[in-house]
Amino acid sequence: MELRPLGRAGPQVSALGLGCMGMSGMYGPADRAESIATLEAALDAGITLLDTGDFYGMGHNELLIAEALRRVPRDRFEVSVKFGAQRDPAGNWLGYDARPAAVKSALAYSLQRLRLDYIDIYRPARLDPAVPIEETVGAIADMVKAGYVRHIGLSEVGAATIRRAAAVHPICDLQIEYSLVSRAIEDSILPTVRELGIAITAYGVLSRGLISGHWRKDSARAGDIRAHIPRFRGENIERNLALVEALRAVASARGVSVAQIAIAWVIGQGADIIPLIGARRRDRLAEALGALEVKLTPEDLAAIERAVPRGAAAGERYAPAQMASLDSERR
Ligand SMILES: NC(=O)c1ccc[n+]([C@@H]2O[C@H](COP(=O)([O-])OP(=O)(O)OC[C@H]3O[C@@H](n4cnc5c(N)ncnc54)[C@H](OP(=O)(O)O)[C@@H]3O)[C@@H](O)[C@H]2O)c1
Repeated sequence: MELRPLGRAGPQVSALGLGCMGMSGMYGPADRAESIATLEAALDAGITLLDTGDFYGMGHNELLIAEALRRVPRDRFEVSVKFGAQRDPAGNWLGYDARPAAVKSALAYSLQRLRLDYIDIYRPARLDPAVPIEETVGAIADMVKAGYVRHIGLSEVGAATIRRAAAVHPICDLQIEYSLVSRAIEDSILPTVRELGIAITAYGVLSRGLISGHWRKDSARAGDIRAHIPRFRGENIERNLALVEALRAVASARGVSVAQIAIAWVIGQGADIIPLIGARRRDRLAEALGALEVKLTPEDLAAIERAVPRGAAAGERYAPAQMASLDSERR
C-alpha cells in the first residue's frame, strides 16, 4: 500500500483510509464479528488510517476499534477521532460542544475507550457556533504539548475557519465530503487547503453507498440515517440512481465496478486527497481496495464527467437542520 503525507504537518498514512462509522449503527444494524474482521483485513492490506468519532454509537465505535487493535503494534496505524457532537441516550442529536474543557474531557474518555496513550489526529466534528475556532484548536494544541494528541485536523469547515485554525496550530487535514456527486469543495475550500499544505480526508466518496452500484431504492433498514438524507428520498433517489446507471456503463466498459470507478475518481483528484472508505464488510473492503489499481485516463475522466456532470445529483447531502450546521456550506 502506497503511503502519503497527511498534509505538511501530518504523519504518513495509507492512500486509502477506513472510516468505521457504519460499524456502529448509523447505517442500521452491523455485524460485530464482520466489522472486526473488516478492520483486521484492512490492516492486513496495509491500510493504516482508521477514522472514528466518539459519538459513533456513543463510544461503541471506539471500543470496537480498540478490540481490533489489541495485538497490533502502535506504529502500524493512525487513529483519527472526531469529538464535539452531543447525543442523548436515545441517540438524538443535541448540538455541538467544542469549548476547551469539553475538548479535554472528551479526549480523556476517548483515550480510555481506545486503550491508547495518544490519539494520532484529533478534530472537532463541526464548528461549535458558540466557540471561536481559535479556542477549540488552542485546547487541542495544549493536548499536543502534553503528549495526548499528535496532530490536529478539522471537519466540514469553510475556508475562513481553516485559515483561522491554521494560524493557531498546524492543521494536517480537513475531513469533508467529496465525491462525483458532492464537489462544492472545488470552489474555495480545496484551493485554500492546498495553499496551506493541508490534506483532505474525503468521506462520502460513495455518497454513503448511493453511488456504490449496490444501493436500491428500498435498501435503507430501520435505524439507517440515510432514510433522512434528501438524496435518498422520493423523486431524488430515482434521479440519482439513473446517474449511477450512467456511471455503471462507463465502469463496465472499463471492466471495473461502479464503486471502484467512483473511488478511483476521487483518488485521481490529487495525492493530497485520501478517501475514507466506509466498508463494514470484507467483500466491500476488497472491492474498494481494487480501486487503487484503476488508473483513469483523460478519456475515462471525460466519460465519467458526461455520465455524472458536476451538480447533477438531486437533493442535498444532509437534511436541512444538519446542512445549517455546516460551516463548509456557508456562502
Ligand atoms: N467528518 C464528517 O462529518 C463525516 C461524516 C460522515 C462520515 N465520516 C467518516 O467517513 C467514513 C466513510 O463515510 P461514508 O459512510 O460516507 O462512506 P462511503 O464509502 O461513501 O459509503 C459507505 C456505504 O457504502 C456501502 N458500500 C457499498 N459498496 C462499498 C464498497 N465497495 N466500499 C465501501 N463501502 C461500500 C457501505 O457498505 P454496506 O453495503 O455495508 O452498507 C456503506 O453503507 C465514515 O465511516 C466516517 O468515519 C465523516
